[in-house]
Amino acid sequence: MSIVAPSLLASNFFKMEDECKMLNESEADWYHLDVMDGRFVPNISFGPMIIEFFRKATTKPCDVHLMIEEPGNYAEQFKNAGANHLIVHIEACPHLHRNLEQIKSLGMKTGVAINPHTPVSALSDILHDTDIVCMMSVNPGFGGQKFIPYTLEKIKQLRSMIDERKLKTLIEIDGGVTIENAPSIVAAGADVLVAGNTVFKSKDPKETIRQLKQL
Ligand code: DX5
Ligand code: ZN
Repeated sequence: MSIVAPSLLASNFFKMEDECKMLNESEADWYHLDVMDGRFVPNISFGPMIIEFFRKATTKPCDVHLMIEEPGNYAEQFKNAGANHLIVHIEACPHLHRNLEQIKSLGMKTGVAINPHTPVSALSDILHDTDIVCMMSVNPGFGGQKFIPYTLEKIKQLRSMIDERKLKTLIEIDGGVTIENAPSIVAAGADVLVAGNTVFKSKDPKETIRQLKQL
């Protein structure tokens, strides 16, 4: 059984109450919230204020993916907004160890995201400090992009690294996950499936979540 984390970026923000109701009733495990600053990525989404509103309507853990520069300056704000997991990008953090220590000290689970061009080996010395690795399977910044096939190779590499070291780190795959490619993503060793368009643009989002969960 996979952990399923619908990405709110693809949801209808005008009907957030209905979307929350659907998600709460569904088999979704976590909610994935994409924060973009227009600098680390060429798009701007939302920040802690929106997450705070969203958090009040939900019961499940909020998995906050920061696609922002200098995430350490905002970690406390996201904690106060209700984030349970705080994911920072390795490419945005010259002092990643310090960032992860800060996230832990605030009582959140730690996550490290890597862009498609960043090798799995870049995680080697930080893996034991990380609860979640968010492996980007598209270039971050936009929902609805196509899954980059080479990611499957990277998932297998990371799976071996985690298993060899007997760690509990979860592998989360973010970007372009569909009902069609999800089985091979899980077979390669992924634990968590983030899905935006696949869930929210489907005719029956709850059923789509259920299908992803079965894998
Ligand atoms: C992309 C975001 C993703 C995005 C996924 O920058 O990090 O979480 O919302 O959307 P889909 O599943 O539609 O590719
Ligand atoms: Zn994301």
